[in-house]
Amino acid sequence: MEPYRVIVIGGGLRGRTYADIMLTMPEKFKVVGIAEPIEDRRRYFAETFDIPAENCFEDWRPLLAKGKIADVAIIATMDRDHFEPSVEAINLGYHLLLEKPISPVPAESIRVAQLAEEKGVHVLVCHVLRFTPFFVRLKQLIDDGAIGDLQSIVHSEYVGNVHQSHSFVRGNWCNSEKSSPMILQESCHDMDILQWLVGRECRYVQSFGSLSYFCEKYKPEGAADRCIDCSVRDNCPYNAIELYPAEEGWFPCAATKKIHPTKEDIDLALRESDYGRCVFSSDNNVVDHQVVNLEFEDGITVAFTMAAFNKGGREMKIMGTKGEITAKMSETTMELYSFDTKETTEVPILDAQAGDNILNGHGGGDNGIVNALYELLSGTYHGNNICNAMRSAENHIIAYAAEESRKNHQTVNMKDFRSDIYANL
Ligand SMILES: NC(=O)c1ccc[n+]([C@@H]2O[C@H](COP(=O)([O-])OP(=O)(O)OC[C@H]3O[C@@H](n4cnc5c(N)ncnc54)[C@H](O)[C@@H]3O)[C@@H](O)[C@H]2O)c1
Repeated sequence: MEPYRVIVIGGGLRGRTYADIMLTMPEKFKVVGIAEPIEDRRRYFAETFDIPAENCFEDWRPLLAKGKIADVAIIATMDRDHFEPSVEAINLGYHLLLEKPISPVPAESIRVAQLAEEKGVHVLVCHVLRFTPFFVRLKQLIDDGAIGDLQSIVHSEYVGNVHQSHSFVRGNWCNSEKSSPMILQESCHDMDILQWLVGRECRYVQSFGSLSYFCEKYKPEGAADRCIDCSVRDNCPYNAIELYPAEEGWFPCAATKKIHPTKEDIDLALRESDYGRCVFSSDNNVVDHQVVNLEFEDGITVAFTMAAFNKGGREMKIMGTKGEITAKMSETTMELYSFDTKETTEVPILDAQAGDNILNGHGGGDNGIVNALYELLSGTYHGNNICNAMRSAENHIIAYAAEESRKNHQTVNMKDFRSDIYANL
């Protein structure tokens, strides 16, 4: 069988991640087109994937104007640039591997999902946590009744102070007007995974949170607006000169937008880009800590915390009528405590890839979703972690509702909130 042909719209860090994974499975996928305005990134695609010049573009519009030249479109532009190419690509009959969030605009997310249904194409939203051995194991334990009937979950997303400073203070997602609110941008994964684990609809949402640390109030005395000019940077954990060494990797590549950043590229980024700015005087407005309470059908409750003030990771306590599961993504086993036996069992996570950050492919989720896409397209998929785009869009609604609640200090009734979104489609 011929490999599925793929075009990439947005050849940044995420677009490249999925394409590079596909490069390791040439019998399954072949990247045949790229739309990416940054020349260095576009050239990387052209050379690495041997893409003919007639399929390399600076913008997605002329690529899609060629009609349907492949089976799958990876859409990995920025949050507010997902909707238009998605609609265009679905109308052409492309299946999508679509980065999250589908859109920061609720009606647009629903519209993409509806269109996918109308056109009969698969739209796999990149909720990569669903494809990690860690969450697959948790779901299996819950569904197998290991803790009886599920009652309550405590879930923490520890963003990590340095990750927060890079992505959500200096970087792409620092300002919700340019990208999306933190709960949608970073924690839509968590809203999605929680709904999947609970397996029921969410009924009420309540949230609090704010941006309290990464702002002028905490700017040290004598600090400059850029680390490069700062006389007190040596004592600062966010000193950009330390964080952006001239070598490959997530941070320097994001800051310089270069595939192989040189020392000169880094110097320029420190002087001119947002990544060289003081974390206490950036143009960030997204929260650095937020809590969300959820009530699902059958009275199942969830308490979720997202915070920047830690070294990073995800942890869960899942409680049922017959026991509890304690699980950390940084570990390769999880603990299962049984009320009957009063014993704790160490449950191994098969193929565990401890950690859940971008550097380890989101705990195996990046590889997992690409493999799942292949199985879906080839009719060989037998798992339960893929969902359709409507489920993803509906789970985004939990995040939109949390943001609404956080801003208004009110509990959101999901039935009413959904009705309003659907009334405005
Ligand atoms: N699934 C996950 O866990 C995960 C993790 C990080 C980011 N993301 C999401 O992935 C998306 C991309 O993030 P990223 O880190 O790759 O950002 P990025 O800035 O590295 O990549 C975006 C790319 O889109 C390109 N682009 C801009 N306009 C374009 C156009 N008109 N046509 C084609 N390309 C265009 C940019 O030049 C850039 O290279 C975001 O929406 C983000 O929320 C998801």
